[in-house]
Amino acid sequence: MHCQTGLGVLQLGTKTEKLKVTGDLIEVVVTRRVLAATDIMNFELRRPDNGALPAFTAGSHIDLHLPNGLVRQYSLCNSSSHSGYYEIAVLLEPDGRGGSKSAHEDLLPGSIVRITAPRNLFALVPGRHSILLAGGIGVTPILSMADALTSADASFEFHYCTRSEDRAAFRERIASSPFASRVRFHFDDGDSRQKLQIRDVLSEARDDVHLYVCGPTGFMDYVLSNARECGWSEANTHIEFFTAQEMSRTGDAGFDLKLARSGRIIRVEADQTVIKALALRGIDIPVSCEQGICGTCLTEVLEGEVEHRDQFLTEEEHTSNKLFTPCCSRAKSPMLVIDV
Ligand code: FES
Repeated sequence: MHCQTGLGVLQLGTKTEKLKVTGDLIEVVVTRRVLAATDIMNFELRRPDNGALPAFTAGSHIDLHLPNGLVRQYSLCNSSSHSGYYEIAVLLEPDGRGGSKSAHEDLLPGSIVRITAPRNLFALVPGRHSILLAGGIGVTPILSMADALTSADASFEFHYCTRSEDRAAFRERIASSPFASRVRFHFDDGDSRQKLQIRDVLSEARDDVHLYVCGPTGFMDYVLSNARECGWSEANTHIEFFTAQEMSRTGDAGFDLKLARSGRIIRVEADQTVIKALALRGIDIPVSCEQGICGTCLTEVLEGEVEHRDQFLTEEEHTSNKLFTPCCSRAKSPMLVIDV
């Protein structure tokens, strides 16, 4: 996966799984790579023996262990009824941390890579009608959702927003799909008639209508702030972040971490993450995104007050102070006691 804001974190939305997952890795081969739009590469992954891959549901993602050693999450964008392969699409982010660059440069037909089994933090839920809103590369899970809703003969509409037409991936696939008539494209550089009229789209905030939003931060902020103002509830708003928020580190202070199982106290310096401070003492907590969006590093908090910096937990979960993401979150109190 790859989405983002200033400090006003929008936590409208629900997640369907809050588990630490460190599952077995699956070896796959890149069987096809196609440029799906400007800067977006579409990859097909299969088992080397062409055997079946674990089943998945629309909205799922895999962790991909990239050739340069980074691990990144990518949503599966093919139909969940296809058991023989997975499809992902990767947006090249020249100023990113190297994940997308490695995917674009190193993943060639025949490349062998390892992935996790699919996980779904962005699942469809039953409802009378679904509104799918995709911004840019956020189209990937939305495409799979559109396929699933079509197969279930369910009512939905699909809005796909990009900066320009050349950045809209999968246009041909959408045009030839059975749901083509439900898709509305909105280009930032297009004329005003085709622009997303967000208030019209969000006018029907009802218990049996569900909103699914995935895209870059500005898009998410825009949609979610409008959703709040239109009365959408957390239970009916489903979101997936792709990249983490930029967070000011100014004013970060050190704090002590007590490991409840051993009683050990470890200092986390102002310029360190909890993960880093632990790793320096030989204690590894599994990580994946290292940005507070995947939940891989979720750790139980037993005492102390957390300064949450993730977009994985809900506002309610932040307030409960029972879990935190040590890859990015810190302490407000002088000490945190964690279940490690
Ligand atoms: Fe992804 Fe911490 S590693 S939330």
